[in-house]
Amino acid sequence: MKAAVLKALGAPLAVESVPDPVLGTGEVIVDVVATRMLAYAGEVFSGERQYLLELPIVPGPGGVGRVRAVGPDATRLAVGDWVSIDPTVRSRDDTVSPDIILQGLTAGSQAALRLQRHYHDGAFAQQVRVPTENISLIGAIDAADAGRWCALGTLLIPYGGLLAGRLAAGETVLVNGATGAFGSAGVAVGVAMGASVVATGRNEAALADLERRFGNRVRTVKMTGNEEDDRRQMQRAADGPVDCVLDLLPPMAESSWVRAAVLAVRPCGRAILMGGIRDDVALPYAWMMRECIEIRGQWMYPRDATQRMIGLIRSGLIRLEDFAVTEFPLDKVNEAVAHAAGNTGPFKMTVVRP
Ligand SMILES: NC(=O)c1ccc[n+]([C@@H]2O[C@H](COP(=O)([O-])OP(=O)(O)OC[C@H]3O[C@@H](n4cnc5c(N)ncnc54)[C@H](OP(=O)(O)O)[C@@H]3O)[C@@H](O)[C@H]2O)c1
Repeated sequence: MKAAVLKALGAPLAVESVPDPVLGTGEVIVDVVATRMLAYAGEVFSGERQYLLELPIVPGPGGVGRVRAVGPDATRLAVGDWVSIDPTVRSRDDTVSPDIILQGLTAGSQAALRLQRHYHDGAFAQQVRVPTENISLIGAIDAADAGRWCALGTLLIPYGGLLAGRLAAGETVLVNGATGAFGSAGVAVGVAMGASVVATGRNEAALADLERRFGNRVRTVKMTGNEEDDRRQMQRAADGPVDCVLDLLPPMAESSWVRAAVLAVRPCGRAILMGGIRDDVALPYAWMMRECIEIRGQWMYPRDATQRMIGLIRSGLIRLEDFAVTEFPLDKVNEAVAHAAGNTGPFKMTVVRP
């Protein structure tokens, strides 16, 4: 089969013939039809992000495709089924605290490298071999829409956070960093889950676009960097208690921008931290204790989230048509890397079609 191979950090991906994957028990081989290119993929391939990758590797986290072969222990999958591939692979020998890799992106931890050695290659290839539990049926789709279905990979991140925050219909969620790729998806998911959303960001045009897309279900706050002022603005925009905060700020943001949002939550509220902040965030112990505040970190999403998200899409609560997709064939994968870096932001996707 044809695949894009990363042979050395900093080198372009080489599109070449590699051996087809071989099926094992508990695994599925998928003919990859479309796979998303992350905005920061170039930083991963250059080594700048210091992701744990043993080279050479076929990168590519997740995607959409058709089942090519199934192991003997699957009961519902059939050859030809359209499926979504979840790159979040968990070790099977510790169900309480498994080691987790993102297949085709990073081992996540030294301990998880062993798992990455088996589920080594990702989806920038005509075929990919994945654990059966990482496959979700999406039902019949038009092949032309396969790229759009890759939005699952974006939507599932904030969905993981909102599930962890037990967001309920009728509640108010504050999405911090809502003008980003994942934050804007968080706004869409929050609305789909029945919540009112307070959306923060700095980019006024992006904030106005969120209001245009979601109407009065979303109120926006332009952040200034003054922690107290920003928090007051958020609480005013909520026009009532903030039940849940979802933070998705990137590494460049200062921790005070996170604190501005977290401290806006109501007594007995929940705050979910999913962003890339590197500095510690000082939170007042006495406030957390007396107000019974729940603070929780969340990486990725639980296994059943994909099927639930497919349900939200199938019901029309999430509209894949909202995503603008630019597609590249596998031969042009390096152009896709550059395009993704230069075209990030809300409701935009760069997709490779192997
Ligand atoms: N936990 C997980 O499972 C998981 C999975 C994937 C990604 N992530 C994390 O999600 C984060 C967001 O990713 P993304 O692609 O959505 O990022 P993004 O597109 O760059 O968006 C970042 C958001 O943060 C704001 N922002 C950017 N720089 C800032 C600064 N210096 N100070 C204050 N605000 C700033 C942006 O506001 P404006 O554009 O309005 O200026 C925007 O709202 C990343 O850090 C990534 O690590 C987490």
